[in-house]
Amino acid sequence: MILNQWYVVLESREVRLAHLLGVTRMGERLVFARDRAGKTFCLRDRCAHRGAALSAGKHAGDAVECPFHGFRYDASGRGVLIPANGKTAEVPERFRVHAYPTYEAHGWLWIWWGERPPARIQAPRYFEDLDGFSWASAVDPWDAHYSRVIENQLDVVHLPFVHYNTIGRGNRTLVNGPVVEWRGPDRFFVRVFNELDTGQRPRTAEDIKPPYPAFHLDFIFPNLWQNWIAPKVRVGAAFVPVDAEHTLLYLRFYQKFMPGPLGRPVARLAMPMNLRIAHQDRRVVQTQQPKPSGLKIGENLVMGDGPIIEYRRRRQELMDAAQG
Ligand code: FES
Ligand SMILES: [Fe+2]
Repeated sequence: MILNQWYVVLESREVRLAHLLGVTRMGERLVFARDRAGKTFCLRDRCAHRGAALSAGKHAGDAVECPFHGFRYDASGRGVLIPANGKTAEVPERFRVHAYPTYEAHGWLWIWWGERPPARIQAPRYFEDLDGFSWASAVDPWDAHYSRVIENQLDVVHLPFVHYNTIGRGNRTLVNGPVVEWRGPDRFFVRVFNELDTGQRPRTAEDIKPPYPAFHLDFIFPNLWQNWIAPKVRVGAAFVPVDAEHTLLYLRFYQKFMPGPLGRPVARLAMPMNLRIAHQDRRVVQTQQPKPSGLKIGENLVMGDGPIIEYRRRRQELMDAAQG
């Protein structure tokens, strides 16, 4: 994990009013809830008294109540009630569970993953061009580290093999470039120029000059991606880390050729095909060793792996910066 980042961890709709939601993210048990005003909060799912899971307890207005002895914690993780000591008793400071800052927008729920959030946290980075789209979504479990799932969506070399009968049809095995275009320090586009191999040598990224075709992949650190297919069609994804060997792929299909109330049902029609493609990937990615990706993991990369190399380099930089 890269520390001190906003990670999409859920869709907004998964955290319902007056309910507790217990999930594992980043290898940690977390409990999510909404306060009376509907604002989400997220606590480490372990009672500071004797370790029971708060998510098995009760939603109590603006607080969460532990199922074991009824201790209550507010949205900041501070203990606010110890029933055994009486409702007028002060709750000592040590009765505190860690709270992660949350942010909700575009139907996503982010948490700030890091020990000490800065006093003024900036909003998470997001795609500015998805306004006005309708979308449908699915959550797909993968037995893989989230970095491998991300790399798969940046991998242009695999298309004619893994997707030989879907999006990689046509046997375009020769990989020109690809071109990686950084859009600020934490976002890049990938432009794809695969073609039939007729004996020619692949062109390098430097040899491929703009203007580029509009189609591209768009990745935002640490875990968001979209595939720009056409002005009114996108596939989006959030790569949600569950633990070191499990990831939830939150997959969305966005469209705006059909506006209004039919927008979502129309988007939904595309989900079976998108899942079929994702499962072609999943079958192979789950077999990759070692589980987490990294800069020095003994792989032998080729020119076409450029986007994966860029991802690894920047990821390492961000991890180092967060440590330092
Ligand atoms: S373990 Fe939570 S109140 Fe005792
Ligand atoms: Fe794929």
